[in-house]
Amino acid sequence: MLFRRENATLEKTLGTTHMTEQNRRWLLASRPQGMIKDSDFTLDTGPVPRAGEGEFVVRVTHLSFDPTQRGWLGGDTYLPAVKIGDPVRAGGIGQVVESHHPGFAVGDVVQGTFGWQEYAVSAGTTETGPVTKLHAGVTPEQALGVFGVTGLTAWFGLTDVGRPQPGDTVLVSGAAGATGSVVVQVAKALGCTVIGIAGGPDKCRWVVESAGADACIDYRSENVARRIKELAPRGVHVVFENVGGAILDAALLNIRKGARVVLCGGISSYNDTGDSRSGLNNYMQLTVMRARMEGFIILDYGARFGEGVQALAKLMAEGKLVTAVDMQEGFENCPATLRRLFEGKNVGKQLLKVADPV
Ligand SMILES: NC(=O)c1ccc[n+]([C@@H]2O[C@H](COP(=O)([O-])OP(=O)(O)OC[C@H]3O[C@@H](n4cnc5c(N)ncnc54)[C@H](OP(=O)(O)O)[C@@H]3O)[C@@H](O)[C@H]2O)c1
Repeated sequence: MLFRRENATLEKTLGTTHMTEQNRRWLLASRPQGMIKDSDFTLDTGPVPRAGEGEFVVRVTHLSFDPTQRGWLGGDTYLPAVKIGDPVRAGGIGQVVESHHPGFAVGDVVQGTFGWQEYAVSAGTTETGPVTKLHAGVTPEQALGVFGVTGLTAWFGLTDVGRPQPGDTVLVSGAAGATGSVVVQVAKALGCTVIGIAGGPDKCRWVVESAGADACIDYRSENVARRIKELAPRGVHVVFENVGGAILDAALLNIRKGARVVLCGGISSYNDTGDSRSGLNNYMQLTVMRARMEGFIILDYGARFGEGVQALAKLMAEGKLVTAVDMQEGFENCPATLRRLFEGKNVGKQLLKVADPV
């Protein structure tokens, strides 16, 4: 009885709020050329959408910012390009404020690809998979970060594609970032020696002192190829590549026989236009060293996400996994928050708080 009364109160609060508010959406105005600009988007204001039969309305509270969004804006990738005039595609967390769907009730805290909008309508699935309810005790920061696409990319990319053995040396670029910092810690937990690469002394200090890498190379001030050689004179067994370009070239010069190069991402080229794209110089090292370079897309591991979350939660419970979150605030700051990833301003997972949960 008490439960029903509390729910009714919550429904009234959420329902009243969402009916009196407007819905702001950041729509794609044109395909960005180079670094994204505010003028690539339009801030649109309109009525809050209502749920039809079999649908529910989500009030978005947190948005995830991921380098892959830059690719989605530019053209077709492993997902179709965001259409001009549509809200920018993005993962998020929110609270159900109206529901005509049997599986979702007002007040449920849910996760899905809701996009850059304050309110989203859903029938239970989004472009990247089903809308899910957050497990009790899991925070939005964890759901979008270490237990979300970010942490799972680190887990499956390293353990399934890189397959390091205890005692191996693992090189991780983008090591102070959301994915890279988890890779560093998983590799340490697996008994590897870990060398990180990150931009600037503060990030490098964090990678060693907080994430626990054995060393970190500051690519902004050091010669990366020479430093890898000094730190791993016999070469590295696994490269976990988040950056690409010159950093991947430096890594390839330092792989040992039978190495595995995990091509997780190449953020250094995501803003390049056709003319400014350049290839790798040292790819023949893969032949010389009988090495393997392999890409992957985390969405292909959907059926195994539960297994990955369990493994990451265990590491966390054992005190072997710390996470950093860079939480910006304000829906109006969506474009600027996405830019932070390409300016290297974030340490750890880049999120934006859009609203407080009720
Ligand atoms: N394959 C998949 O399924 C999958 C899934 C998720 C993510 N990813 C990839 O994983 C990588 C990391 O993503 P994330 O979400 O964890 O982002 P992140 O590492 O938290 O943030 C991006 C970082 O990249 C670095 N960076 C940006 N521009 C750079 C440049 N020109 N040269 C060198 N470093 C640069 C910056 O760090 P510094 O300050 O250290 O430069 C920045 O903080 C990305 O390449 C992403 O596309 C792939």
